[in-house]
Amino acid sequence: MERNDPNNAEDQSQNQQWQPKIVAFLCHWCSYAGADLAGISRIQYPPNIRVIRVPCSSRVNPLHIIKALQHGADGVLVSGCHPGDCHYGSGNYLARRKFALLKRFLEFIGIEPGRVQFSWVSAAEGQKFASVIEEVVEDVRKLGPARRLVKNLMK
Ligand code: FES
Repeated sequence: MERNDPNNAEDQSQNQQWQPKIVAFLCHWCSYAGADLAGISRIQYPPNIRVIRVPCSSRVNPLHIIKALQHGADGVLVSGCHPGDCHYGSGNYLARRKFALLKRFLEFIGIEPGRVQFSWVSAAEGQKFASVIEEVVEDVRKLGPARRLVKNLMK
């Protein structure tokens, strides 16, 4: 059974009320601090994200992203320090390579590329953090609810 049938009137009305759920893996040193700064500065951004703080963007295993999509996330964001600023030397370069491969794999299995996004946000970029969240939420909203990989079909 399809999770959402675009031809079904009940599903259409549910889709209009639907809000995307985004899991955001944020590096403790930069992006998490950027999110904190956005909060302290009272910069508004959509409340659709659920933050998971990680020590470094390279700590995020591709399986974490797949599991998030399987368990109801409509999109995933991984955000870390700018290239060259990783507190562990080259963690973000490693993450960038890992996620470039993961994105190609996800596309291969039918996941829209906009569902999984990566960004670099420093601790001083509260405004940028808010902009990134707005963009990710809008991109995922345009894609609609995730259907592929979802393990627990809810109706
Ligand atoms: Fe932030 Fe590595 S410590 S990406």
